[in-house]
Amino acid sequence: MRNRMCEKTLRPLQIAASVAGAMIAVAGCGGSSADSAAEQRALVEQGKQIFRFDTFGDEARWTDTLRMHEVIASAVDPMTALSVGLKVDAEALPQQLIDGIANGSVDLTSPATTVALLKLDAVVGLKGTVETVGGADRLVSVGITCALCHSTVDDSFAPGIGKRLDGWPNRDLDPGAIIALSPAIDAPTKALLDSWGKGKYDPRFNVDGISKPVVIPPAYGLEGIHSVTFTGDGTEPAYWNRYVAVVQMGGQGSFSDPRLNLSVTNGTEDLVSDKLPALQAYQLSLPAPAAPAGSFDPGAAARGKLVFEGVGGCASCHSGALFTDANAKLHPPADSMAEPESPSYASRSATGQYRTSPLKGVWQHAPYFHDGSAATLDEVVRIYDSKRSLGLTEQQRSDLAQYLRSL
Ligand code: HEC
Ligand code: HEC
Repeated sequence: MRNRMCEKTLRPLQIAASVAGAMIAVAGCGGSSADSAAEQRALVEQGKQIFRFDTFGDEARWTDTLRMHEVIASAVDPMTALSVGLKVDAEALPQQLIDGIANGSVDLTSPATTVALLKLDAVVGLKGTVETVGGADRLVSVGITCALCHSTVDDSFAPGIGKRLDGWPNRDLDPGAIIALSPAIDAPTKALLDSWGKGKYDPRFNVDGISKPVVIPPAYGLEGIHSVTFTGDGTEPAYWNRYVAVVQMGGQGSFSDPRLNLSVTNGTEDLVSDKLPALQAYQLSLPAPAAPAGSFDPGAAARGKLVFEGVGGCASCHSGALFTDANAKLHPPADSMAEPESPSYASRSATGQYRTSPLKGVWQHAPYFHDGSAATLDEVVRIYDSKRSLGLTEQQRSDLAQYLRSL
């Protein structure tokens, strides 16, 4: 990596200089902090492309097995796609298409328009391969990327159409309903998938057969947190990225974890491993979004901070700048306000425990707790107050909720 970047940075020099001169320049490259900052930026940029557009060869699952390309080409017009929470990247659309959508001349009730959008790489998280034969476009394969679940758009053009917001969980997306469209799935399984609902996915269903989805979490704000997933299964994003890429998306490569008694290899090539460093660097570069001005009452939030750190007892677990003790420990299931649940999500994980959720940007991704059982931050506070017998006054509860909104 270092050498490649080095060559890149030095390319103009190389062109100007003799080969020997360039070799000296390359040999002298590396080590300086400007170089390593440039290298890091290149790695992050590479990771962004992977996050948005790389399927890891998971077409083997989404096309060959689930035949989603047939369903999309025959039955998924853009209105249907938007209704199951798929998002359209407005920046990928040529002006002509934008005008056509705005003036109604582009048919949003025709699956052919979806194919046209896929050809432009404009459907967030869906990667289609379109072949043009005799002037007609044909969708020959489709795969999914990380952005499907962990990106949304800012709706700046229309609801569901706008600029990408990477790392923001797509809580409008109904992954179960989308997979249930596959002609390769039997009726009882379809019924289970259809029951998951928007913003939720069960990343262990195809492993243990239990259908009990969790909310799609953000993939931002993870820098400095050495414990990933609700249950802290890995010490860095790459652990879980490999799991999802191989075991959930169906990418070509391997994942194994003796704690889960799980070992999966798809195909004979590894299209996952060498992408993990860049993919992780990109996720770690995504900060949690700051609370929009005017979205909370600063005076109430300042009082709420005192409740959070004092009588609420919140800071004992949501500690430090990242609002989590995740780097020090995990918690028994009973410490989750969503427990007891049956079966416990923790019991299906590698650790059997829960990580204290980091709270930066928590305003952005209702509903709360791993199962989405608290609809709002006010409800979170009410649940803590009653389950932990905090005895908060109404004022304290409302101040605390305002504080959470400000993080
Ligand atoms: C079908 C939807 C879906 C796709 C596609 C998907 N994820 Fe996730 N992701 C989830 C769900 C659900 C969880 C929560 C699992 C848990 O914590 O137990 C999750 C958890 C995570 C986490 C942990 C966040 C935290 O707070 O620790 C990261 C990081 C992540 N995903 C990144 C990725 C990357 C990178 C990809 C692509 C390789 C990807 N995901 C693909 C649904 C998805
Ligand atoms: C004993 C440790 C502990 C204490 C004390 C604690 N929390 Fe939590 N908190 C957790 C754990 C663990 C989770 C993850 C639970 C889950 O997802 O099921 C969590 C989750 C949350 C979430 C949901 C975040 C999300 O992304 O869905 C919010 C909000 C929250 N806590 C706020 C608070 C507030 C406010 C207090 C004080 C009244 C508090 N917590 C006290 C451990 C704690």
